Amino acid sequence: MAGFGTVGSGVWKLLKENGDLITSRSHGTARLEIRRIAVRDLEKKREVEAPTNLLTTDCASLVDDPSVDLILELIGGTGAAFELVASALRAGKPVITGNKALLAERGQELFALARKHHTPIYFEAAVAGGIPIIKGIQESLIGNRIRSIAGIINGTSNYILQRMTEAGLGYSEALQEAKKLGYAEADESLDVNGWDAAHKAILLGSLAHGFLIDHRQVYVRGIEKVTPLDIRFASELGYVVKLLSLVIARENGSIEIRTQPSFLSKKNILASVHGVFNAVAVKGDFVGQSLFYGPGAGQGPTASAVISDLVEAARSSHPDRGFLPHRIDGELVPIDDTSTSYYVRFSVTDRPGVIADIATVLARHQIGISGTHSPVDPDHPDADFVDMVFLLHTCPFGVLKTALAEVEQLDCLTGRPVVFRIETL
Ligand code: NAP
Ligand code: HSE
Repeated sequence: MAGFGTVGSGVWKLLKENGDLITSRSHGTARLEIRRIAVRDLEKKREVEAPTNLLTTDCASLVDDPSVDLILELIGGTGAAFELVASALRAGKPVITGNKALLAERGQELFALARKHHTPIYFEAAVAGGIPIIKGIQESLIGNRIRSIAGIINGTSNYILQRMTEAGLGYSEALQEAKKLGYAEADESLDVNGWDAAHKAILLGSLAHGFLIDHRQVYVRGIEKVTPLDIRFASELGYVVKLLSLVIARENGSIEIRTQPSFLSKKNILASVHGVFNAVAVKGDFVGQSLFYGPGAGQGPTASAVISDLVEAARSSHPDRGFLPHRIDGELVPIDDTSTSYYVRFSVTDRPGVIADIATVLARHQIGISGTHSPVDPDHPDADFVDMVFLLHTCPFGVLKTALAEVEQLDCLTGRPVVFRIETL
């Protein structure tokens, strides 16, 4: 096992507590024993004690040890983790990993190596923590053409948004809480800039559609710029703000994929996914809509997912597990060609004609307005408004961008427009 942090310690604890149960449930096939543990710092005080003779700072020694059958990669990142996984595959040792960044960014090379050496990569823990969504798509829904996947798949962001909404916490305070609880990545910017969720969406989309989605072509926005003001306006309008990842198949086979904070109706089932919980709604042509729900991060749930792969690897003699592309290539829909309705908040100077000026530009681009919102203090009806919200009818994102670029030239604007998609799913 490489990595003895949040997840590695969880795996150690689970094996200690439930190892015998696993052996008996697998009729003796899965006798799991950790032979070596690679860490960065041998002197570090750890939450869980392991015999010191197991610890090493030399990842390569795990692969070289002839008594090691399987490699757990739980260190994270795309550098040392890549070297470890690649050398394990070359040595014919199956790999279990929870590292979505590694697979989404360097999966092309690693899955090719896995195929070349007939050695599997298992990655249940890489998406949605304890929810068995990888096996769900790879196995349980294999008979379906997947029409859409809509997921809340970053526990940290969901936790932060909820704490901002319900406890009125500031963004940084909420992030510190998520870090303390072991939800955040070692590089927490991946959680809040949307990339952790995007990596997971790339893996789900690739499994569902049979070609490895190129991360450089994926549209990603995070929650860093979500303000309490927009969360409040959303609520007043009947919505919640969620970091939503979408993978939608078009009739012609091309794929829409995006991750961004979005407005969701409070009535949508995903609106009630709170805190560190994740949910993935998968629509298949035969199964219809299925919802996978559970804890999306944290020590116990992630260790549970890692162990499921470990047992499968121990039991399985199937050589080609991992990702088997069945399309040579696939086409992604450019983000500008994707359409939804929108919430747009303009920060403006209150003067006669402001609304008309903005509406005129929008109309020039054939963008319809379905509603407006600008809170007025009932005790001061003459006070200037500074935030003008427009709800806009469905139009391509590219058209909206062009229109907003023109609106930004108006002298009444005091800041950049804030845009959320309204997803009806
Ligand atoms: P973590 O708490 O930061 O632990 C990382 C561990 O890896 C530490 O023990 C560290 O050693 C060790 N390490 C880092 N670089 C190393 C290197 N070059 N050589 C040897 N050891 C090295 O991270 P984590 O939260 O457990 O996450 C691990 C992986 O699981 C990541 O890929 C993450 O994305 C994924 N994951 C995490 C969660 C979660 O809820 N935390 C959920 C799903 C998936 P030291 O202890 O000596 O520093
Ligand atoms: N940092 C990740 C999250 C861990 O918050 O969802 C689970 O992949």
